[in-house]
Amino acid sequence: MHETRIALLKALARGEFYSGTELGEICGVSRTAIAKHIEGLKGLGIDVFSVKGKGYKLSSPLSLLDKDVISQYLVPPQDKTNLHLDLTILSQVNSTNTYLKEHLSQFNSGHVVIAESQSAGRGRHGRTWVSPFASSIYLSMYWRFDGGYQALSGLSLVIGLAVVDTLTEIGLPSAQLKWPNDVYIDMQKIAGVLIEVEGAVGDAVNCIIGIGLNVKLPSNIEGIEQSYTDIESHLGTPLVDRNKLAALLLNNMKRIIRKFESEGLATFVSRWEALNVFENKPVRLIMGDQSIEGVCLGIDNEGALRMQVNGSVQSFHGGEISVRAI
Ligand code: BTN
Repeated sequence: MHETRIALLKALARGEFYSGTELGEICGVSRTAIAKHIEGLKGLGIDVFSVKGKGYKLSSPLSLLDKDVISQYLVPPQDKTNLHLDLTILSQVNSTNTYLKEHLSQFNSGHVVIAESQSAGRGRHGRTWVSPFASSIYLSMYWRFDGGYQALSGLSLVIGLAVVDTLTEIGLPSAQLKWPNDVYIDMQKIAGVLIEVEGAVGDAVNCIIGIGLNVKLPSNIEGIEQSYTDIESHLGTPLVDRNKLAALLLNNMKRIIRKFESEGLATFVSRWEALNVFENKPVRLIMGDQSIEGVCLGIDNEGALRMQVNGSVQSFHGGEISVRAI
């Protein structure tokens, strides 16, 4: 994003009125330029309004991402060998997963990209992940897994646990998980996970772990096909600190990924099952144009979904399967 636009947003973020002249002084440009940049912000979906004689104001204050603030909340690495913060913050990007993939050679395992908005955010099954400015956490983490593809089975399930732990820490202990990688509150989706594998080097596999976590979605949002919710609707706090939230999520992701690397999925199975939104409920599995009905039992040690189908227990694997309540 243009530097002036970033300075303008930072000024407006407090949610107070500023005249065009005041904003021009803060940003070092003319009033006319401010008017143009305000239009640019509106184009990004940011709700700025103007009142004659008072100036410009955001419809509600914004918590903007800030690397220094995020780093205050991060747990320092245990080995103290890598003290710099492997974090890139972008105002706008096509998709944090795509950006990370395209720049992978420049980053170390553990590097994180977070964006204020995505113009082409991606979800599972080729869906779009609608990504309005400063409304959510759009985050991708690069992790290099030793041990080949088999070391990854169940990764999306444990990432879901990291999101649930984060929501619990900020006061939302009622989040649940929907196989393979959705997070729900009150039967509405609050977060999704998109894991992509970007080439294997010997036995090591490069993974891009993308998370979209809804914080405060605009009321007039369009294009979301599923029933969804956001953090502020449940917390009742007008302005969630997205920097603290992002840091808590990163801390939980790193902790859980390390445990997953050393202990595998088995150690997480009972916890995942206790959070299963469809536990012992009748569900339909949809796999392309096929569907199977049964009762959702839980997961196995490889991360497959266990279902009671026609009197026997069957396991289902695969990224292209989706589960619906009947
Ligand atoms: C899903 O539930 O379909 C997965 C959604 C994943 C969205 C996140 S937002 C950050 C990262 N970048 C993307 O383009 N997608 C993921």
